[in-house]
Amino acid sequence: LLYVLSILIYTVLSYKVSYENYKVYKVHLKDNAAKENFLLIHKQIPHLDIWGENHVTRTLDVMVSPKEENKFTELLKMYGIPQEMAVNNVESVLKDSLSQAETRSGEFNWTSYHNYDVVYAWLDSLAELYPKNVTTFIAGYSHLGLPIKGIRIQLKENATRVALIDSALHAREWISVATSTYIANEFLTTKNETLKAAAAEIIWYMLPIVNPDGYNYTFFVDRLHRKNLQINATVNCSSYTGGNGIGIDLNRNFAYQWMANGGASDWPCSTQYAGPYPFSSPEARAFRSFLEGIGKNLQLYLTFHSYGQYILFPYGHTVNPIDNYYEQYTVGRMAADAIESYYGKKYIVGNIAEGVYLSTGGSDDWIKYTYQTRLVFCYELRDDGYYTFLLPPDQIIPTAQEVLASIPVLVQQLIRFD
Ligand code: ARG
Ligand code: ZN
Repeated sequence: LLYVLSILIYTVLSYKVSYENYKVYKVHLKDNAAKENFLLIHKQIPHLDIWGENHVTRTLDVMVSPKEENKFTELLKMYGIPQEMAVNNVESVLKDSLSQAETRSGEFNWTSYHNYDVVYAWLDSLAELYPKNVTTFIAGYSHLGLPIKGIRIQLKENATRVALIDSALHAREWISVATSTYIANEFLTTKNETLKAAAAEIIWYMLPIVNPDGYNYTFFVDRLHRKNLQINATVNCSSYTGGNGIGIDLNRNFAYQWMANGGASDWPCSTQYAGPYPFSSPEARAFRSFLEGIGKNLQLYLTFHSYGQYILFPYGHTVNPIDNYYEQYTVGRMAADAIESYYGKKYIVGNIAEGVYLSTGGSDDWIKYTYQTRLVFCYELRDDGYYTFLLPPDQIIPTAQEVLASIPVLVQQLIRFD
């Protein structure tokens, strides 16, 4: 019933949130001193929405509301942080982008973005089409009762190694869903012998939409929503938008080093709200209970996010190297090279805390710590800050193709230790 109700509610609400005169600034953070000063500014204006980082230009994209804009630019000036305006009216950019999404049921493809119902129907159709190789499952349910649906793909009977690929822990990162589904499809249909052989070595589990409530919300209410839709009892965040709206940041809600070292926020309206306690979100709990089944055999975990073009690996609370830092780094580097050789896109490889910013409570850190999974990577997909979360649909296939090119590399590194 909740399932039907939520669809009805969202359909009626239809694009409530407006970003009229919201702006995106690229702030130049040339050294650690500048980064620390920026944190001070963020403290004074907590509901800045941090979007993503470009390591080549050393810029951070930040969305600011018209109310906060003056204060923001004045503080930047005061701290001597240069900025440039990248988007002067987010609403106008959004309108273009939304017209390119397929929000109603239709045939599945990778020429537009699709909501969860279309994705789920397509997963079911795979199980029907490939009954010997594909099964679907439900890992659990979201806060509003939507299923967190997954598929299991096994191409070779005696495969034993297990991998997990997920996407859309963050609602607005649409390219992550398009990419994971593209990869699933290629595993089943490719004529490329290298890819076919690599795919057959592994039992693949995929959770294309870990945050179905938030994802659905980005199609009908707020295109830039990031978190889940859990309402906080004490603080009302409903007047905020995008990253700062209601909900818990699922990628800050996992139990390893939860809230350590300032890697997440305890303010419920923050983009990076960690929740009142670890695993306080039904989505993270569903993820955890699903992992109880496959975790001890898991050898590879890929979690897709956007944007920024990074291949990151644990941990997020410290720049200190993990036990197999060298292996994670070199394999990550090989994956990035495979990506670059496809269309020339450069991905930066590194530990989470050194690569982007301190962040704690991520699914990747929790899996690494809990199951000692050998290869754990967080891919921050395209782009590097031009279209940001609003990557045009004509970039879906190129993005997915280049990422797919890195998969055989990862598998080959796993199996060479037999
Ligand atoms: N942009 C993503 C986020 O903010 C990834 C940052 C790295 N953290 C991680 N646990 N992978 O959650
Ligand atoms: Zn993300």
